[in-house]
Amino acid sequence: MGDSRETFGPKAFVTGFPVKHSRSPLIHGYWLKTLGLPGSYRAHEVAPEGFADFIASLKDGSSGFAGGNVTIPHKELAFRLADKPDELSRELGASNTLWRENGLLHATNTDGVGFTANLDERHPGWDRHDTAVVFGAGGASRAIIQAVRDRGFKTIHVVNRTVERARELADRFGPKVQAHPAGALAEVMKGAGLFINTTSLGMDGEAAPQLDFTPLATEAVVTDIVYIPLKTPILAQAEEQGFPIVDGLGMLLHQAVPGFEKWFGKRPVVDAALRALIIADMEAH
Ligand code: ATR
Repeated sequence: MGDSRETFGPKAFVTGFPVKHSRSPLIHGYWLKTLGLPGSYRAHEVAPEGFADFIASLKDGSSGFAGGNVTIPHKELAFRLADKPDELSRELGASNTLWRENGLLHATNTDGVGFTANLDERHPGWDRHDTAVVFGAGGASRAIIQAVRDRGFKTIHVVNRTVERARELADRFGPKVQAHPAGALAEVMKGAGLFINTTSLGMDGEAAPQLDFTPLATEAVVTDIVYIPLKTPILAQAEEQGFPIVDGLGMLLHQAVPGFEKWFGKRPVVDAALRALIIADMEAH
């Protein structure tokens, strides 16, 4: 039997394929409980061939959902099928947060605000430099590049093993973004004030290359969007070399805030107890 609060109030979802590993139900469940709000949030797996029908059921209200989160592989289609994608989503071509408003399906992408809110919380002043290095040019790097640009960084070097992917992003995000092959990493790190790993290197116990962070500006911040393990090999190296580091878990927590506020009507707070809850869950699995 579920909590009686789940029977009433708005219903929200996280959808993906697969979606069972998502920690979003834990995050939103924690906020619903601690804020004492009626409503529910659950994982709702939808296969790619069923996604358009799922969106149609959101639009006509038959799903019963007020909205929800969208993860891999549905973010691009969610953006394309929404009635009202916002400007952030339009530039990214992908949405991770949906909500119904006046009969229309709205969409945004909160990965970028999750990224900046995490750094604001854990290392205020991280944005005082002009130059950032983004390592990696996959799907996860897009919202980061957008957020760093919108925060005021004047030069953003995107470095990727496959340089064509970095070039596509430079074209998409404008002249402040410059594309480089992996061999240029040491050169573009010179004097940069922020280093962001968006590659999958070092994830889940996999090996990561040895990186020399010393060309970065003194006190440059090094962060990683991978959060399993919390201290990735890239972060461990940066810390050993004397740089402040920020792990990626807070991005996951903060990106959830705007959606919760839309569906349940109250802005939640990312606190130490929520962080501890997710870390405990990571350790248990
Ligand atoms: P996501 O959408 O989650 O970012 P992705 O699109 O597969 O995932 O991108 C993964 C990123 O990690 C890419 O930048 C990828 O580089 P390529 O574009 O050259 O594939 C990078 N990456 C993964 N394994 C790598 C490796 N062994 N060496 C260097 N870069 C790697």
